[in-house]
Amino acid sequence: MTATDPMTTPATAGERAGDEPLLVVEDLTVRFPTEDGVVSAVTELSYQVEQGETLGIVGESGSGKSVSSMAVLGLHDSRTARITGSIRVRGTEVVGMSESKLRKLRGNEIAMIFQDALAALHPFYRVGAQLAESYMVHHPDASKRDARRKAIEMLDRVGIPRPDRRVDDFPHQFSGGMRQRAMIAMGLINDPSLLIADEPTTALDVTVQAQILDLLQDLQREFNSAVIIITHDLGVIAEMADDVLVMYSGRAVEYGPCKDLLVHPEMPYTWGLLSSVPDVTSDTNARMIPIPGNPPSLLAPPAGCPFHPRCTHRDKVPGDLCATTLPELLPGGRGGSHLKRCHLSNPDAIYEAEVLPEIAPDLAQER
Ligand SMILES: Nc1ncnc2c1ncn2[C@@H]1O[C@H](COP(=O)(O)OP(=O)(O)O)[C@@H](O)[C@H]1O
Ligand code: SF4
Ligand SMILES: [Mg+2]
Repeated sequence: MTATDPMTTPATAGERAGDEPLLVVEDLTVRFPTEDGVVSAVTELSYQVEQGETLGIVGESGSGKSVSSMAVLGLHDSRTARITGSIRVRGTEVVGMSESKLRKLRGNEIAMIFQDALAALHPFYRVGAQLAESYMVHHPDASKRDARRKAIEMLDRVGIPRPDRRVDDFPHQFSGGMRQRAMIAMGLINDPSLLIADEPTTALDVTVQAQILDLLQDLQREFNSAVIIITHDLGVIAEMADDVLVMYSGRAVEYGPCKDLLVHPEMPYTWGLLSSVPDVTSDTNARMIPIPGNPPSLLAPPAGCPFHPRCTHRDKVPGDLCATTLPELLPGGRGGSHLKRCHLSNPDAIYEAEVLPEIAPDLAQER
């Protein structure tokens, strides 16, 4: 999605390191002071996304996925959200950036697509007019005719049939899948280098879901953009992502290359997520086992490991460590860039012996 080649783009003022990844999030903390107390929505979160790569962020509802991604776009109201840490896009700091600079960043450099396309598209304006409008905001020299042509081209790119006619439809004349495609077209119309897709297919039926995910992958390959895909579905992650970040209670609890992390997950919460998605492996005997209990309150997160009230493996950790001491996010037993936040000393062995036989018996036997 890059109009400019990073190899030839001159370094801009304020750039910290010319060779750092496209997006670097460091120690991001987002708190909301409320009447009931302070909501710790995101705590000390760090991750990176390289150009052309896909990061999947996964976790149950309320784990801080949307709040952290909205911070990347500078979408939080500074009167209600307290944000600390650093978010750098091509080396430029986003935290504390002025609203006028943020507006340029959004659309130009970063775009977001949401779960609910109806809410993102204005019901009273024609789809094409809305696409043309967002093109013209970032291309002030473009004529109306150019913008309309671009809108039709983008509708065509995302697979809307007869785009030259459908460009004049209102959003309610589009099906749910077509509205989602139109929103993707809107996200891509200004060639952003980073696209954040927040549960982009949750509201759609399974077939349309698969088509939209395929479309996103095709467009990413074509534009060499970076993509963050947010989902509660590890199946989507397995399909799409290079890296995966598992969030729980506003924190990263496991983070690493998708291929390693999904085959050798080292954190009981990730095991729980895998157990509740039957189609991650093709194993037909796989059982769906929901994670017991509920996510913790972010007004008063539990002491120690945030997952300890729900964890069925904490008896394997000596003493009361799980309930008293927050595990650090550290390289797991397999080393490399695969990180996990858990006190268990032998998670691989436990996963192979106890977890895999439950959720994928055939796969466990093969190993
Ligand atoms: N403006 C706000 N004020 C107070 N709490 C908020 C606000 N926005 C989000 N939260 C809380 O932050 C937590 C994380 O939310 P979110 O990032 O939306 O979760 P999800 O992982 O489902 O996307 C939730 O408990 C939510 O209620
Ligand atoms: S640190 Fe303890 S409670 Fe937390 S996931 Fe690991 S074993 Fe479970
Ligand atoms: Mg969300």
